[in-house]
Amino acid sequence: MRLLLSHDDLGRWSPGRGGVMDSEALALAYAYPQLCAEQTWVRANFVSTLDGAATGADGRSGSINTGADREVFALLRALSDVVLVGAGTARAERYKRATVRAPWTYLRQGRPAHPSTALFSRSGAVPPELSQAREDSGEVMLVTCQQAGAAAINLARDTLGEQNVIVQGQATVDMAAAVGSLAARGLRRILCEGGPHLMGDLTASGHLDELCLTITPTLVAGDHPRITAGTAVTANLKPQLLIESEGTILGRWART
Ligand SMILES: NC(=O)c1ccc[n+]([C@@H]2O[C@H](COP(=O)([O-])OP(=O)(O)OC[C@H]3O[C@@H](n4cnc5c(N)ncnc54)[C@H](OP(=O)(O)O)[C@@H]3O)[C@@H](O)[C@H]2O)c1
Repeated sequence: MRLLLSHDDLGRWSPGRGGVMDSEALALAYAYPQLCAEQTWVRANFVSTLDGAATGADGRSGSINTGADREVFALLRALSDVVLVGAGTARAERYKRATVRAPWTYLRQGRPAHPSTALFSRSGAVPPELSQAREDSGEVMLVTCQQAGAAAINLARDTLGEQNVIVQGQATVDMAAAVGSLAARGLRRILCEGGPHLMGDLTASGHLDELCLTITPTLVAGDHPRITAGTAVTANLKPQLLIESEGTILGRWART
């Protein structure tokens, strides 16, 4: 990994001069900001091709990512308290409970060994891969709304435990209230791994603080989702960090 550009707390730009980054420098470059009590930081992480596709021909992101993207994906999980995922992505990507492995385990000091996963769903259906217990992995929570209905909510409570089901909002999840519920559980470093509809709702809610975006040096043409979907919304971001690795560009973009 080579640092191309970084932006310091005083708003100054520093060219990276192609300096090679080891894993410690990478972890520092992606560290969450210092948060005061009750404060949250909501970061999203996505990968896209040069022509803006969020999936490859198999309808999954695994076919467009690269080694550098996988490395930062694992690092961002290790830095987070909770991983948010939309049910569409959990189904398409066959999500399992999150785990943190070497070289990032030292980042979990003073915290559970693995981040929790918060599944966002209006239907309240938890995919079996997430509801099943998995040794040495994080907890799973369901974040849903009243529309899911009592049967789905009660089933999720039986499967995941009463405390792991958050119901916020009527026809859809109220994002502000959901972020507040996570923060009340001490989960303040929040990582949203998509997908596009959840990202669209998060952006529209004004609760997205930062986007980590990997651009892979690939064109795929065809019809593929972008990293956002749903109702149109404009959010302006400014670059904070740019890294290059074998043609893959990785960046952090913060809300202005
Ligand atoms: N390139 C990348 O980095 C990346 C990242 C993630 C995903 N993807 C790709 O994106 C595709 C999936 O796209 P998608 O738009 O369907 O994904 P999604 O946003 O994860 O899933 C949509 C579903 O998530 C739930 N959901 C989303 N927003 C919600 C909200 N505000 N409140 C409550 N529930 C909410 C609903 O689940 P219910 O249907 O259960 O109600 C909804 O039908 C897959 O092909 C995946 O591979 C790519």
